[in-house]
Amino acid sequence: MPEFTWDTLDAAATLAAAHPEGLINLSMGTPVDPVPEVIRRALADASDAPGYPLTAGTPALRAAIAAWVSRACGAGVDGLGVLPTIGSKEMVAWLPTLLGIGPGDVVVVPSIAYPTYEDGARLAGATVVRTDSLTSVGPTSRVRLVWVNSPGNPTGRVLPAAHLRKVVDWARERGAVVASDECYLPLGWSAEPVSVLSPQVSGGSYAGVLAVHSLSKRSNLAGYRAGFVAGDPALVAELLKVRKHAGMIVPAPVQAAMVAALDDERHAEEQRERYRARREVLAEAFTGAGFTVEHSEAGLYLWLTRGEDCWQTVDWLARRGILVAAGVFYGPTAGQHVRVALTESDEHIAAVAARLA
Ligand SMILES: Cc1ncc(COP(=O)(O)O)c(C=O)c1O
Repeated sequence: MPEFTWDTLDAAATLAAAHPEGLINLSMGTPVDPVPEVIRRALADASDAPGYPLTAGTPALRAAIAAWVSRACGAGVDGLGVLPTIGSKEMVAWLPTLLGIGPGDVVVVPSIAYPTYEDGARLAGATVVRTDSLTSVGPTSRVRLVWVNSPGNPTGRVLPAAHLRKVVDWARERGAVVASDECYLPLGWSAEPVSVLSPQVSGGSYAGVLAVHSLSKRSNLAGYRAGFVAGDPALVAELLKVRKHAGMIVPAPVQAAMVAALDDERHAEEQRERYRARREVLAEAFTGAGFTVEHSEAGLYLWLTRGEDCWQTVDWLARRGILVAAGVFYGPTAGQHVRVALTESDEHIAAVAARLA
């Protein structure tokens, strides 16, 4: 495996920390707002949990996931497989292995992408192809898995339903699986994100498709490790079987907390409005400082460029006490971009605007 990319930001972090008013960290995208009370109560109420939890999730959790998927993704629940995961990163990292993908197989990932898609393919010993256009994948290659991510990290790009539909059709013709990482689905700003489970994309069948979801950002639950996968019931059954053997189980109190989180839209809407407001302040501030905002029509980040090498931009911002992620973390074609997360307090977001003015 490669070195952990974030370590390469250490020098910029030291520079930013030397700012007289302190460091403002827009690099990682880790939630900072409180865990909603309704979720904390459910976790506490379920804390007497001496027995082993169910890998498949409690019946209450399975029902809550299916109901949420039906509401948020426009999916029918008949024949839908669901399975809780220990956050979504582990599912992204282990999906190729859990599906039995290995050496000689190909995993397709977006050209500019969350690094864990590639890491997961490496863990399985598979070959990675980075592309946004499946026509560039040779006809003979053994593609077993295609990752899509809309809204995308880091770009905030939303893929239209027709694009997703083409990916699903292409994969079904070849017997490949489409895994759609939809952890930012609830954060649409100037475009409406579409789930792979929506009938416009899936054609009403879940064959060969999996949607990967997370409560980390929707419900400020990154610390709880709460995610789930939904889609093809046969694939989900296979994942369940392997995960039972491997002991990949969501803790019982977290399962109870997930039910409370999924059943409540009010806290998610409040959190969304916080991000909306922060996004507006940051977009105006960075644009005013000469940055161009690209894509960013949804999700948790602004994707920015000043038309120069990303490390120059990282350094320029670090001198103002602002730490951002370098575009190269996400792919070789992203060397002139930086990623700015919306996950800082309102006070710090206002301070970013003041420092850039
Ligand atoms: C695109 C994408 N997928 C998955 C994850 C993993 O999130 P978690 O493990 O908190 O569910 C992240 C986290 O930032 C992400 O950006």
